[in-house]
Amino acid sequence: MVSTEDLDYPQIILQYSNGFLVSKVMFTACELGVFDLLLESGEPLSSDAIAARLGTSTTGMERLLDACVGLKLLAADLTQEGALYRNTEISNTYLTKSSPKSQYHIMMYYSNTVYLCWHYLADAVREGRNQYERAFGVSSKDVFGAMYRQICDLGGGGGALARECVSLYPNSTVTIYDLPKVVQMAKEQFIPPEERRIAFHEGDFFNDSIPEAELYILSKILHDWDDDKCRQLLAKVHKSCKPGGGVLLVESLLNEDKSGPLETQLYSMNMLVQTEGKERTAAAYSKLLEAGGFREVQVKRTGKLYDAVLGRKS
Ligand SMILES: C[S@@+](CC[C@H](N)C(=O)[O-])C[C@H]1O[C@@H](n2cnc3c(N)ncnc32)[C@H](O)[C@@H]1O
Repeated sequence: MVSTEDLDYPQIILQYSNGFLVSKVMFTACELGVFDLLLESGEPLSSDAIAARLGTSTTGMERLLDACVGLKLLAADLTQEGALYRNTEISNTYLTKSSPKSQYHIMMYYSNTVYLCWHYLADAVREGRNQYERAFGVSSKDVFGAMYRQICDLGGGGGALARECVSLYPNSTVTIYDLPKVVQMAKEQFIPPEERRIAFHEGDFFNDSIPEAELYILSKILHDWDDDKCRQLLAKVHKSCKPGGGVLLVESLLNEDKSGPLETQLYSMNMLVQTEGKERTAAAYSKLLEAGGFREVQVKRTGKLYDAVLGRKS
């Protein structure tokens, strides 16, 4: 029952309205690397030092840090030079990338995917359908392939995409295929045990067999590998793929003349320092797909960070 006090000061209503502000503060601190920096530095840092190390404005960073203190995600020690910020135990454990119990990737999924779709909640209720296309400029059916029931997410990591697939397509089952240690983590952290339409397969996609499926999703996989390895993997996928099925690449596409987008060019530099791969153009992915045996290649540029390239097995 609502008390008269509640009617004078509607605490619960204010709390509900602020809910998304709280989430976004936490997501933003994760995305900008605040918790990772404070873990790595091993000592409390001032907001100016954090802003300088993370390349942000000082005014914005100070407010973000103070809000995180309010949320008990950070603690501040007051010194003569001003506040010095450090992680709380809960942030060290759950919000840093390197922690074995890290929730970082699911936070980024919420921030970059779920949050954008929720912006269109009223439209979703009005129309009774998902708002993926409004949010991302590409239909979820284009991305996930409505006609495919048996999907294998190769290198599926934490399972964010797999969860999206099963929630959009009640008739689909998704197998998350990844290295054993990644699958173990995904099982523990990300997938609710009640989710029956998600299965796991531990394996090395270069050296072990790949299960049969109608659609293979390779999201941010090929950009890790050189052309030879990509051709090898795609040929293997083609062999396991059911006739009429296909492979969907989710990658950030470079312009054909490689003039941009800047973020993709920077990712490609990152691939140089971290992996054997690179970011590629749509034509380069099409060539790799065709070398692997796939035909009827379709490219969907989304205007966002990640694009889709689909190849079919005839
Ligand atoms: C860049 S992450 C992409 C994760 C996810 N697909 C996404 O879109 O966020 C690459 C994934 O490939 C997995 N991976 C790397 N080498 C692998 C291999 N040889 N066999 C299976 N999975 C592999 C990694 O463990 C990681 O989860």
